[in-house]
Amino acid sequence: MKLVLVTGAAGFIGSHVSELLLSEGWRVRGVDALTDNYDPAAKLRNVSGMRHNPAFTLLHEDLTRAELGPLVEDVDAVIHLAAEPGVSTSWGEAFSTYVERNILATQRLLEAAACAHAPRIVYASSSSVYGPTLEAMHETSRLAPLSPYGVSKLAGECLVGAYAHQRGVPTVALRFFSVYGPRQRPDMAIHRFTEALLDGREVSVFGDQVQLRDFTYVGDVARAVVAATTAPVPSGTVLNIARGAPVPVPEMLRLLAEEVHGEASVARLPHRAGDTEQTHGDSRAAAAALGWRAATDLRLGLKHQVAWHRRLREHPEQEGVTSPGSPGLQAIPAIHGSMQGSIQGGWDR
Ligand SMILES: NC(=O)c1ccc[n+]([C@@H]2O[C@H](COP(=O)([O-])OP(=O)(O)OC[C@H]3O[C@@H](n4cnc5c(N)ncnc54)[C@H](O)[C@@H]3O)[C@@H](O)[C@H]2O)c1
Repeated sequence: MKLVLVTGAAGFIGSHVSELLLSEGWRVRGVDALTDNYDPAAKLRNVSGMRHNPAFTLLHEDLTRAELGPLVEDVDAVIHLAAEPGVSTSWGEAFSTYVERNILATQRLLEAAACAHAPRIVYASSSSVYGPTLEAMHETSRLAPLSPYGVSKLAGECLVGAYAHQRGVPTVALRFFSVYGPRQRPDMAIHRFTEALLDGREVSVFGDQVQLRDFTYVGDVARAVVAATTAPVPSGTVLNIARGAPVPVPEMLRLLAEEVHGEASVARLPHRAGDTEQTHGDSRAAAAALGWRAATDLRLGLKHQVAWHRRLREHPEQEGVTSPGSPGLQAIPAIHGSMQGSIQGGWDR
Protein backbone atom coordinates (compact mmCIF):
# COMPACT_ATOMS: atom_id res chain seq x y z
CA MET A 1 0.00 0.00 0.00
CA LYS A 2 1.43 3.38 -0.98
CA LEU A 3 1.86 6.01 1.71
CA VAL A 4 1.14 9.72 1.27
CA LEU A 5 1.78 12.60 3.66
CA VAL A 6 -1.12 15.08 3.66
CA THR A 7 -0.45 18.37 5.44
CA GLY A 8 -3.54 20.25 6.64
CA ALA A 9 -5.37 16.89 6.62
CA ALA A 10 -7.97 18.06 9.15
CA GLY A 11 -8.88 21.13 7.12
CA PHE A 12 -11.76 21.61 4.72
CA ILE A 13 -9.99 20.45 1.55
CA GLY A 14 -7.47 18.20 3.34
CA SER A 15 -10.17 16.02 4.90
CA HIS A 16 -11.82 15.42 1.49
CA VAL A 17 -8.46 14.67 -0.12
CA SER A 18 -7.60 12.21 2.68
CA GLU A 19 -10.93 10.41 2.33
CA LEU A 20 -10.51 10.07 -1.42
CA LEU A 21 -6.96 8.76 -1.03
CA LEU A 22 -8.12 6.14 1.49
CA SER A 23 -10.93 5.06 -0.85
CA GLU A 24 -8.34 4.60 -3.60
CA GLY A 25 -6.19 2.34 -1.43
CA TRP A 26 -3.54 4.76 -0.14
CA ARG A 27 -2.30 4.88 3.42
CA VAL A 28 -2.58 8.47 4.65
CA ARG A 29 -0.26 10.09 7.15
CA GLY A 30 -2.09 13.30 7.98
CA VAL A 31 -0.42 16.16 9.78
CA ASP A 32 -2.26 19.15 11.15
CA ALA A 33 -1.46 21.76 13.80
CA LEU A 34 -5.21 22.37 14.38
CA THR A 35 -4.55 26.09 14.21
CA ASP A 36 -7.09 28.60 15.47
CA ASN A 37 -8.20 30.20 12.17
CA TYR A 38 -11.46 28.47 13.14
CA ASP A 39 -12.57 26.12 15.90
CA PRO A 40 -10.12 23.18 16.14
CA ALA A 41 -13.10 21.03 17.22
CA ALA A 42 -14.54 21.55 13.71
CA LYS A 43 -11.28 20.26 12.24
CA LEU A 44 -11.40 17.17 14.43
CA ARG A 45 -14.97 16.66 13.29
CA ASN A 46 -13.75 16.83 9.66
CA VAL A 47 -11.55 13.75 10.20
CA SER A 48 -13.81 11.91 12.62
CA GLY A 49 -15.15 9.63 9.88
CA MET A 50 -11.61 8.33 9.23
CA ARG A 51 -10.55 7.80 12.82
CA HIS A 52 -11.27 4.07 12.86
CA ASN A 53 -9.56 3.46 9.53
CA PRO A 54 -6.22 1.75 10.25
CA ALA A 55 -4.82 3.23 7.01
CA PHE A 56 -5.24 6.76 8.42
CA THR A 57 -2.95 8.42 10.94
CA LEU A 58 -3.26 12.00 12.15
CA LEU A 59 -0.29 13.75 13.71
CA HIS A 60 -0.67 16.92 15.69
CA GLU A 61 2.43 18.75 14.45
CA ASP A 62 3.23 22.30 13.40
CA LEU A 63 5.22 22.48 10.15
CA THR A 64 6.88 25.71 11.26
CA ARG A 65 8.59 23.96 14.18
CA ALA A 66 8.40 20.17 13.97
CA GLU A 67 11.24 17.96 12.85
CA LEU A 68 9.99 17.15 9.36
CA GLY A 69 12.56 14.54 8.29
CA PRO A 70 10.69 11.59 9.89
CA LEU A 71 7.39 12.76 8.38
CA VAL A 72 8.59 12.63 4.76
CA GLU A 73 11.14 9.82 5.12
CA ASP A 74 9.32 6.87 3.60
CA VAL A 75 6.43 8.44 1.74
CA ASP A 76 5.49 7.92 -1.91
CA ALA A 77 4.12 11.47 -2.19
CA VAL A 78 3.50 14.65 -0.22
CA ILE A 79 0.34 16.74 -0.57
CA HIS A 80 0.89 20.15 1.00
CA LEU A 81 -2.43 21.80 1.88
CA ALA A 82 -1.57 23.27 5.29
CA ALA A 83 -1.70 27.05 5.30
CA GLU A 84 -3.29 30.10 6.86
CA PRO A 85 -6.12 30.83 4.40
CA GLY A 86 -8.25 33.96 4.05
CA VAL A 87 -7.79 37.10 1.95
CA SER A 88 -9.34 39.88 4.03
CA THR A 89 -7.71 38.75 7.27
CA SER A 90 -4.17 38.84 5.88
CA TRP A 91 -3.52 42.60 6.28
CA GLY A 92 -1.74 44.28 9.17
CA GLU A 93 -0.09 42.44 12.04
CA ALA A 94 -1.70 39.16 10.99
CA PHE A 95 0.64 38.91 8.02
CA SER A 96 3.38 37.43 10.20
CA THR A 97 1.14 34.37 10.64
CA TYR A 98 0.83 34.08 6.85
CA VAL A 99 4.60 34.38 6.49
CA GLU A 100 5.14 31.59 9.01
CA ARG A 101 2.39 29.19 7.99
CA ASN A 102 2.44 29.74 4.22
CA ILE A 103 6.04 30.62 3.38
CA LEU A 104 8.27 29.30 6.16
CA ALA A 105 6.28 26.05 6.58
CA THR A 106 6.43 25.44 2.80
CA GLN A 107 10.20 26.02 2.67
CA ARG A 108 10.79 23.70 5.65
CA LEU A 109 8.68 20.98 4.04
CA LEU A 110 10.44 21.36 0.68
CA GLU A 111 13.84 21.16 2.37
CA ALA A 112 12.80 17.95 4.15
CA ALA A 113 11.35 16.55 0.89
CA ALA A 114 14.60 17.35 -0.95
CA CYS A 115 16.72 15.61 1.71
CA ALA A 116 14.42 12.56 1.71
CA HIS A 117 14.25 12.42 -2.11
CA ALA A 118 10.43 12.49 -1.92
CA PRO A 119 9.06 11.27 -5.26
CA ARG A 120 6.37 13.98 -5.64
CA ILE A 121 5.10 17.05 -3.81
CA VAL A 122 1.75 18.62 -4.69
CA TYR A 123 1.39 22.23 -3.51
CA ALA A 124 -1.96 23.95 -2.94
CA SER A 125 -1.77 27.35 -4.57
CA SER A 126 -4.57 29.78 -5.25
CA SER A 127 -6.24 31.96 -7.87
CA SER A 128 -5.19 34.80 -5.53
CA VAL A 129 -1.77 34.79 -7.20
CA TYR A 130 -3.27 36.39 -10.34
CA GLY A 131 -3.63 40.09 -10.97
CA PRO A 132 -7.11 41.54 -11.54
CA THR A 133 -8.56 40.75 -14.96
CA LEU A 134 -11.95 40.26 -16.58
CA GLU A 135 -10.47 37.64 -18.91
CA ALA A 136 -10.04 33.95 -18.20
CA MET A 137 -6.92 33.32 -16.12
CA HIS A 138 -4.37 31.07 -17.83
CA GLU A 139 -1.34 29.67 -16.04
CA THR A 140 0.70 32.24 -17.98
CA SER A 141 -1.52 35.21 -17.06
CA ARG A 142 0.00 38.10 -15.12
CA LEU A 143 0.82 37.28 -11.50
CA ALA A 144 0.06 40.26 -9.26
CA PRO A 145 -1.61 39.27 -5.99
CA LEU A 146 -4.04 41.83 -4.54
CA SER A 147 -3.65 40.72 -0.93
CA PRO A 148 -0.90 39.72 1.51
CA TYR A 149 -2.47 36.23 1.48
CA GLY A 150 -2.01 36.04 -2.31
CA VAL A 151 1.58 37.21 -1.92
CA SER A 152 2.24 34.43 0.60
CA LYS A 153 0.72 31.77 -1.69
CA LEU A 154 2.78 33.07 -4.63
CA ALA A 155 5.92 33.05 -2.47
CA GLY A 156 5.15 29.40 -1.64
CA GLU A 157 4.73 28.69 -5.34
CA CYS A 158 8.08 30.37 -6.13
CA LEU A 159 9.75 28.23 -3.45
CA VAL A 160 8.19 25.13 -4.99
CA GLY A 161 9.64 26.19 -8.37
CA ALA A 162 13.08 26.83 -6.89
CA TYR A 163 13.20 23.42 -5.18
CA ALA A 164 11.94 21.78 -8.39
CA HIS A 165 14.53 23.36 -10.65
CA GLN A 166 17.54 23.63 -8.32
CA ARG A 167 17.15 20.79 -5.83
CA GLY A 168 15.42 18.17 -8.00
CA VAL A 169 12.21 17.96 -5.97
CA PRO A 170 9.43 16.70 -8.31
CA THR A 171 6.62 19.22 -7.82
CA VAL A 172 3.15 20.11 -9.09
CA ALA A 173 1.41 23.33 -8.00
CA LEU A 174 -2.37 23.53 -8.27
CA ARG A 175 -4.14 26.89 -8.23
CA PHE A 176 -7.56 26.35 -6.64
CA PHE A 177 -10.50 28.66 -7.41
CA SER A 178 -13.17 29.44 -4.73
CA VAL A 179 -13.65 25.96 -3.33
CA TYR A 180 -17.01 25.14 -1.71
CA GLY A 181 -18.94 22.12 -0.48
CA PRO A 182 -19.47 20.19 2.78
CA ARG A 183 -17.09 21.24 5.61
CA GLN A 184 -16.36 24.59 4.00
CA ARG A 185 -14.53 26.87 6.42
CA PRO A 186 -16.88 29.01 8.54
CA ASP A 187 -15.25 32.25 7.36
CA MET A 188 -16.03 31.50 3.70
CA ALA A 189 -18.92 33.16 1.89
CA ILE A 190 -21.15 30.19 1.04
CA HIS A 191 -20.81 28.85 4.59
CA ARG A 192 -21.75 32.24 6.06
CA PHE A 193 -24.60 32.73 3.57
CA THR A 194 -26.04 29.26 4.23
CA GLU A 195 -25.99 29.70 8.01
CA ALA A 196 -27.66 33.12 7.67
CA LEU A 197 -30.36 31.74 5.35
CA LEU A 198 -31.05 28.78 7.63
CA ASP A 199 -31.41 31.17 10.59
CA GLY A 200 -33.59 33.57 8.57
CA ARG A 201 -30.95 36.29 9.03
CA GLU A 202 -29.70 38.89 6.55
CA VAL A 203 -26.89 37.84 4.26
CA SER A 204 -23.91 40.23 4.32
CA VAL A 205 -22.32 40.79 0.91
CA PHE A 206 -19.14 42.85 0.66
CA GLY A 207 -18.69 45.51 -2.04
CA ASP A 208 -21.22 47.38 -4.17
CA GLN A 209 -20.19 45.85 -7.52
CA VAL A 210 -21.53 42.52 -8.72
CA GLN A 211 -18.64 40.11 -8.30
CA LEU A 212 -18.22 36.89 -10.27
CA ARG A 213 -16.61 33.80 -8.82
CA ASP A 214 -15.52 30.54 -10.41
CA PHE A 215 -16.97 28.30 -7.67
CA THR A 216 -15.34 24.86 -7.74
CA TYR A 217 -16.75 21.89 -5.83
CA VAL A 218 -14.49 20.34 -3.20
CA GLY A 219 -15.04 16.78 -4.49
CA ASP A 220 -13.75 17.88 -7.89
CA VAL A 221 -10.77 19.62 -6.29
CA ALA A 222 -9.94 16.47 -4.30
CA ARG A 223 -9.97 14.42 -7.54
CA ALA A 224 -7.53 16.87 -9.12
CA VAL A 225 -5.19 16.68 -6.11
CA VAL A 226 -5.19 12.89 -6.09
CA ALA A 227 -4.63 12.77 -9.87
CA ALA A 228 -1.68 15.17 -9.50
CA THR A 229 -0.10 12.87 -6.92
CA THR A 230 0.83 10.29 -9.56
CA ALA A 231 0.31 11.93 -12.98
CA PRO A 232 3.36 11.72 -15.26
CA VAL A 233 3.87 15.48 -15.57
CA PRO A 234 7.16 17.40 -15.67
CA SER A 235 8.44 18.68 -12.36
CA GLY A 236 7.57 22.34 -11.81
CA THR A 237 4.16 22.03 -13.50
CA VAL A 238 1.57 24.65 -12.45
CA LEU A 239 -2.14 24.04 -13.16
CA ASN A 240 -5.41 25.91 -12.62
CA ILE A 241 -8.09 23.85 -10.87
CA ALA A 242 -11.33 25.66 -11.69
CA ARG A 243 -14.78 24.82 -12.93
CA GLY A 244 -14.23 27.42 -15.63
CA ALA A 245 -17.68 28.99 -15.33
CA PRO A 246 -17.79 32.22 -13.31
CA VAL A 247 -21.15 32.95 -11.70
CA PRO A 248 -22.36 36.37 -10.45
CA VAL A 249 -22.64 36.26 -6.66
CA PRO A 250 -26.34 37.28 -6.70
CA GLU A 251 -27.06 34.30 -8.99
CA MET A 252 -25.24 31.93 -6.62
CA LEU A 253 -27.20 33.44 -3.73
CA ARG A 254 -30.47 32.89 -5.61
CA LEU A 255 -29.63 29.20 -6.13
CA LEU A 256 -28.59 28.88 -2.49
CA ALA A 257 -31.80 30.51 -1.22
CA GLU A 258 -33.84 28.17 -3.44
CA GLU A 259 -32.05 25.21 -1.89
CA VAL A 260 -32.68 26.47 1.64
CA HIS A 261 -36.30 27.35 0.70
CA GLY A 262 -35.74 30.84 2.00
CA GLU A 263 -35.61 34.39 0.77
CA ALA A 264 -32.23 36.09 0.76
CA SER A 265 -32.37 39.54 2.25
CA VAL A 266 -29.04 41.18 1.52
CA ALA A 267 -27.10 43.72 3.58
CA ARG A 268 -24.40 45.49 1.56
CA LEU A 269 -21.13 46.04 3.37
CA PRO A 270 -18.17 48.08 2.09
CA HIS A 271 -15.67 46.55 -0.36
CA ARG A 272 -12.89 44.66 1.38
CA ALA A 273 -9.30 45.30 0.39
CA GLY A 274 -7.91 42.34 -1.56
CA ASP A 275 -11.21 41.25 -3.13
CA THR A 276 -11.21 41.09 -6.91
CA GLU A 277 -14.10 41.68 -9.30
CA GLN A 278 -13.95 38.37 -11.09
CA THR A 279 -12.22 35.01 -11.03
CA HIS A 280 -12.37 32.74 -14.03
CA GLY A 281 -9.91 29.88 -14.34
CA ASP A 282 -8.99 28.20 -17.58
CA SER A 283 -8.36 24.55 -16.68
CA ARG A 284 -7.52 23.18 -20.12
CA ALA A 285 -3.95 22.50 -19.00
CA ALA A 286 -5.23 20.39 -16.06
CA ALA A 287 -7.51 18.51 -18.47
CA ALA A 288 -4.52 17.66 -20.66
CA ALA A 289 -2.06 16.91 -17.84
CA LEU A 290 -4.32 15.13 -15.36
CA GLY A 291 -7.31 14.07 -17.46
CA TRP A 292 -9.25 16.21 -14.99
CA ARG A 293 -12.39 18.19 -15.48
CA ALA A 294 -14.77 19.66 -12.89
CA ALA A 295 -17.88 17.49 -12.93
CA THR A 296 -20.15 19.10 -10.33
CA ASP A 297 -22.59 21.75 -11.41
CA LEU A 298 -23.12 24.65 -8.99
CA ARG A 299 -26.72 23.80 -8.13
CA LEU A 300 -25.80 20.22 -7.18
CA GLY A 301 -22.72 21.32 -5.23
CA LEU A 302 -24.80 23.83 -3.26
CA LYS A 303 -27.35 21.10 -2.56
CA HIS A 304 -24.58 18.95 -1.02
CA GLN A 305 -23.28 21.85 1.06
CA VAL A 306 -26.73 22.86 2.36
CA ALA A 307 -27.47 19.20 3.21
CA TRP A 308 -24.26 19.13 5.25
CA HIS A 309 -25.22 22.30 7.17
CA ARG A 310 -28.63 20.80 7.92
CA ARG A 311 -27.14 17.47 9.05
CA LEU A 312 -24.76 19.26 11.35
CA ARG A 313 -27.59 21.25 12.92
CA GLU A 314 -29.97 18.33 13.28
CA HIS A 315 -27.65 15.43 14.12
CA PRO A 316 -24.20 16.75 15.04
CA GLU A 317 -23.32 13.33 16.46
CA GLN A 318 -23.63 11.81 12.96
CA GLU A 319 -20.72 13.93 11.82
CA GLY A 320 -18.94 12.59 14.88
CA VAL A 321 -18.53 15.88 16.69
CA THR A 322 -15.38 15.45 18.72
CA SER A 323 -14.00 17.93 21.18
CA PRO A 324 -10.29 18.35 21.83
CA GLY A 325 -8.90 15.64 24.10
CA SER A 326 -12.03 13.50 23.74
CA PRO A 327 -11.87 9.69 23.50
CA GLY A 328 -12.56 9.98 19.75
CA LEU A 329 -9.37 11.91 19.29
CA GLN A 330 -7.31 9.48 21.29
CA ALA A 331 -8.63 6.71 19.05
CA ILE A 332 -6.87 8.20 16.04
CA PRO A 333 -3.74 6.08 15.60
CA ALA A 334 -0.60 8.19 15.93
CA ILE A 335 3.07 7.77 15.14
CA HIS A 336 5.86 9.40 17.13
CA GLY A 337 3.32 9.75 19.95
CA SER A 338 2.34 13.09 18.48
CA MET A 339 -1.39 12.87 19.18
CA GLN A 340 -0.94 12.05 22.85
CA GLY A 341 -2.51 14.39 25.34
CA SER A 342 -5.09 16.99 24.56
CA ILE A 343 -4.96 19.27 21.59
CA GLN A 344 -4.32 22.88 22.47
CA GLY A 345 -5.78 24.15 20.95
CA GLY A 346 -15.14 36.41 2.45
CA TRP A 347 -13.96 35.39 -0.29
CA ASP A 348 -11.30 32.89 -0.61
CA ARG A 349 -9.53 32.24 -3.83
N1 LIG B 1 -10.72 26.94 0.28
C1 LIG B 1 -10.44 27.59 -0.85
O1 LIG B 1 -11.32 28.09 -1.57
C2 LIG B 1 -9.01 27.69 -1.32
C3 LIG B 1 -8.75 28.40 -2.51
C4 LIG B 1 -7.43 28.48 -2.93
C5 LIG B 1 -6.42 27.87 -2.24
N2 LIG B 1 -6.70 27.21 -1.08
C6 LIG B 1 -5.61 26.56 -0.37
O2 LIG B 1 -5.98 25.23 -0.06
C7 LIG B 1 -5.38 24.82 1.18
C8 LIG B 1 -6.43 24.29 2.14
O3 LIG B 1 -7.36 25.32 2.43
P1 LIG B 1 -8.69 25.07 3.29
O4 LIG B 1 -9.73 25.98 2.76
O5 LIG B 1 -8.95 23.61 3.38
O6 LIG B 1 -8.23 25.65 4.71
P2 LIG B 1 -8.31 25.01 6.19
O7 LIG B 1 -7.94 26.10 7.13
O8 LIG B 1 -9.63 24.35 6.39
O9 LIG B 1 -7.18 23.90 6.15
C9 LIG B 1 -5.80 24.19 6.38
C10 LIG B 1 -5.32 23.29 7.49
O10 LIG B 1 -3.91 23.50 7.66
C11 LIG B 1 -3.63 23.42 9.05
N3 LIG B 1 -2.37 24.17 9.28
C12 LIG B 1 -2.17 25.52 9.12
N4 LIG B 1 -0.91 25.82 9.42
C13 LIG B 1 -0.28 24.67 9.77
C14 LIG B 1 1.04 24.36 10.17
N5 LIG B 1 1.99 25.30 10.32
N6 LIG B 1 1.35 23.05 10.44
C15 LIG B 1 0.41 22.09 10.30
N7 LIG B 1 -0.87 22.34 9.95
C16 LIG B 1 -1.20 23.61 9.68
C17 LIG B 1 -4.83 24.05 9.74
O11 LIG B 1 -4.97 23.62 11.08
C18 LIG B 1 -5.98 23.58 8.84
O12 LIG B 1 -6.60 22.40 9.35
C19 LIG B 1 -4.62 26.04 1.69
O13 LIG B 1 -3.28 25.91 1.28
C20 LIG B 1 -5.27 27.21 0.96
O14 LIG B 1 -4.39 28.31 0.82
C21 LIG B 1 -7.97 27.11 -0.61
